Amino acid sequence: MNTLVNEVTGLIKDRQPEEALAQLAARFPGELVFSTSFGLEDQLITHLIFENNLPIRVFTLETGRLFQETYYTWNRTLERYQKEIEAYFPDTHAVQQLITQKGPSSFYDSVENRKECCRIRKIEPLQRALAGAACWITGIRADQSDNRQGMTDVEWDGTNGLVKFHPIYHWTLDEVKRFVKANNIPYNPLHDKGFPSIGCAPCTRAVQEGEDFRAGRWWWEDQSKKECGLHAT
Ligand code: ADX
Ligand code: SF4
Repeated sequence: MNTLVNEVTGLIKDRQPEEALAQLAARFPGELVFSTSFGLEDQLITHLIFENNLPIRVFTLETGRLFQETYYTWNRTLERYQKEIEAYFPDTHAVQQLITQKGPSSFYDSVENRKECCRIRKIEPLQRALAGAACWITGIRADQSDNRQGMTDVEWDGTNGLVKFHPIYHWTLDEVKRFVKANNIPYNPLHDKGFPSIGCAPCTRAVQEGEDFRAGRWWWEDQSKKECGLHAT
């Protein structure tokens, strides 16, 4: 595993994100995937992949609880690039059972219940989406949270048994915004309404001036517990 991390680190070293992605696409044919939530960072990476016709599978986790604005962004992305974005849904039986037993908003009741919902709507579908992949690309940036500050742009994901690469890990939010604007990349209109980080609708709210990037995610919980498990390795 560390050999693979070292190899990927060598391949992407001193390269711009699109060059790094091209290197990895050549190294991992059919085994390179990118997950998008249609957030600003993901839109930038989607642009790099689609504009450069990189052979990278792009998927999204359709939790069933996304904002209307996210569907709007998804549609605009399809219109603009005319490329496929694979949708992964939660297991029908698991969602039916959860809602029948606990109602539609159990995530507000306890951290345990919230994690159960994230497990059903995100983690299990993620495992299906990652099956067969050797390398997983995400839009994570270091300055999104203290936790993410402690990560690296290439890392081993022991849970999923693959290498993760965050091509814009060292970019600032301003740099991302500038790139998106300069390239006229479609983005979620919620970003202009105080939502820097956008997840499921019932679990995301706008942040106030000066609040942390992820303050609007699961805002009713302790700061320390605020990862949904997609990136908890
Ligand atoms: S989360 O773990 O808190 O939900 P965040 O919203 O910051 O993650 O996004 C970080 C990265 O996780 C995104 O750049 C994207 O690669 C991936 N991701 C998050 N949510 C989804 C989703 N619904 N579908 C696909 N990928 C996602
Ligand atoms: Fe469920 Fe909220 Fe997690 Fe979405 S973010 S999967 S609605 S608990």
